Amino acid sequence: MRVAFPLDRPFPVIELDEVDSTNLEALRRVAAGSLDNAWLIARRQTAGRGRSGRSWHSADGNLAASLTIFPGCAASIMPELSLVTGVALHAALSSCLPPSSDGARPLRLKWPNDVLAGDGKLAGVLIESTSAGNRAGPIAVIGIGVNLCSAPQIDGRATIAARDLGISLDARTLLGHVDRKMRRWLDIWLGAAGFARVREAWLERCGPLGVPVTVDTGSEMIAGTFAGLDETGALLIDSVPANSKHRRRITFGDVSLMPLKGEGST
Ligand code: BTN
Repeated sequence: MRVAFPLDRPFPVIELDEVDSTNLEALRRVAAGSLDNAWLIARRQTAGRGRSGRSWHSADGNLAASLTIFPGCAASIMPELSLVTGVALHAALSSCLPPSSDGARPLRLKWPNDVLAGDGKLAGVLIESTSAGNRAGPIAVIGIGVNLCSAPQIDGRATIAARDLGISLDARTLLGHVDRKMRRWLDIWLGAAGFARVREAWLERCGPLGVPVTVDTGSEMIAGTFAGLDETGALLIDSVPANSKHRRRITFGDVSLMPLKGEGST
């Protein structure tokens, strides 16, 4: 696939002090024709957006950034970008962790792209796509939020901050790491290795198969065990009881994993 932007140098960064949401601002700038392949980063968001219509709370010092790209791909494969971003974000955050003596991998991915430490949510991604008259193909606004200095207290949801894991970077420095990994994984995705390599990397980072999960699709609650991803990146769930041998393919939904230590859910 032809890469529509240079991946051998960092994406430009536009820094804002305060904005409602970096995703919304990026979408406005795309509509006005004033934003190309670039990051928007804000010190403060007054109306940060999360998945499934939720709000995203990010205190001062946390990372709130949106990368706008024109990937030059068919709209039908845009969902793959969600997993590309998850792998890149997981890789970036993992590279910032202090070395562990036992070689443990403390971070894992939860479908499609949450980064968890233990059961706590460390980072989330909201991808919004749009189009512009003068461009062929979709435009993606990849919004990334990382609980860098502090994690919001949210009823029923476990959260954690990078600082609690020994990561003591500022948001702009962390963005540099995220940018590097995004370019690496975009290059793999859009190159010869393609989505198959991304899927493999995602599966290496998601923790064990077979763990109990529930998925809220908005119209239905599905309970079962995590059975991996199909070749398009859709989530596979084996329904409970397992002997019913019924496998569901999920393309949209909020996933909750069984807690590792018996409290809260992610
Ligand atoms: C989620 O619900 O997990 C997704 C959270 C995404 C938050 C980021 S912060 C930067 C960007 N701007 C937004 O309004 N949302 C995303």
